Amino acid sequence: MKRITRSPLSIKDPSFHTSLEVKYEACLVPAILSWFCILVSFWFMIAVVMSMVSGFRAPPALITIFIWLLVVESFGHAAQTDIDCLRDIQASLQDPFNYLSSWRFNNTTEGFICKFAGVDCWHPDENKVLNIRLGDMGLRGKFPLGVSRCSSLTGLDLSGNSIRGNIPSNISKLIGFVTSLDLSSNHFSGEIPVDLANCSYLNILKLDNNQLRGRIPPQIGLLNRIKTFSVSRNQLSGPVPRFISATIPAESYANNPGLCDISAHLQFQA
Ligand SMILES: *[C@@H]1O[C@H](CO)[C@@H](O)[C@H](O)[C@H]1NC(C)=O
Ligand SMILES: *[C@@H]1O[C@H](CO)[C@@H](O)[C@H](O)[C@H]1NC(C)=O
Ligand SMILES: *[C@@H]1O[C@H](CO)[C@@H](O)[C@H](O)[C@H]1NC(C)=O
Ligand SMILES: *[C@@H]1O[C@H](CO)[C@@H](O)[C@H](O)[C@H]1NC(C)=O
Repeated sequence: MKRITRSPLSIKDPSFHTSLEVKYEACLVPAILSWFCILVSFWFMIAVVMSMVSGFRAPPALITIFIWLLVVESFGHAAQTDIDCLRDIQASLQDPFNYLSSWRFNNTTEGFICKFAGVDCWHPDENKVLNIRLGDMGLRGKFPLGVSRCSSLTGLDLSGNSIRGNIPSNISKLIGFVTSLDLSSNHFSGEIPVDLANCSYLNILKLDNNQLRGRIPPQIGLLNRIKTFSVSRNQLSGPVPRFISATIPAESYANNPGLCDISAHLQFQA
């Protein structure tokens, strides 16, 4: 039988550390914004107290309430997007073996999505998705564009399914913060989008065992955090990229009809 989930991200996993790194980078801006809102709110509260003490009417009270609503709304909204993200993903994939049957949206307790099969959260009682691991579930359909709504996502594993169609040409707009992307062993076709080179946090990029054709965009070699890269068993041709910060073994390129490593004068044949 197929396995349902993989073990959670462990401290030994190379992507664990970069996850923390991205957690810091991805959360810094929202954190600064929310602290700013809280500070502004306190300022207004003090203004209210002052104006009451000194006997003036207190219009800032309204503004304070407004700002608090804004803060609460922005937190609520962030969580709602992650819920919508999973709802969209579920709706866009066919799940003939019902692996996603635990994805039920009628109990909206904070953190409820963290119990879904294949979903890791940043924190178990916060609806904020860290990783989506849907490997070997027999899923069908196209690349789920809904992942873009999981705004704090650091890992996406769709390997070993029957997903077809192109890898989206705007992939960096969809999952720009991921450190790990595994689309291997599916039916992805078309070319590798050059925009993958803009997913600059990628440590692990696995595209092997698909039906990808054409050239590997040389810009992929500029991904300076790459440790694992694999495109074996596709229909790729042309030169392999020159990675600025990693040595990619020949097996990673094996079984493509027309791929060549110019620097090593090697030719890989299917
Ligand atoms: C909703 O889910 C939470 C966590 O799984 C659980 O503790 C709670 O009892 C559930 N609520 C209902 C109404 O099922
Ligand atoms: C959610 O729906 C499932 C069936 O779809 C049902 O078994 C479960 O009791 C429902 N939970 C709540 C909290 O309504
Ligand atoms: C990405 O491209 C798809 C079409 O391939 C489009 O439907 C979607 O809105 C685009 N998303 C973003 C965030 O640009
Ligand atoms: C993607 O990266 C290229 C350079 O590789 C850059 O020219 C382009 O502006 C980037 N696009 C986005 C949307 O960041």
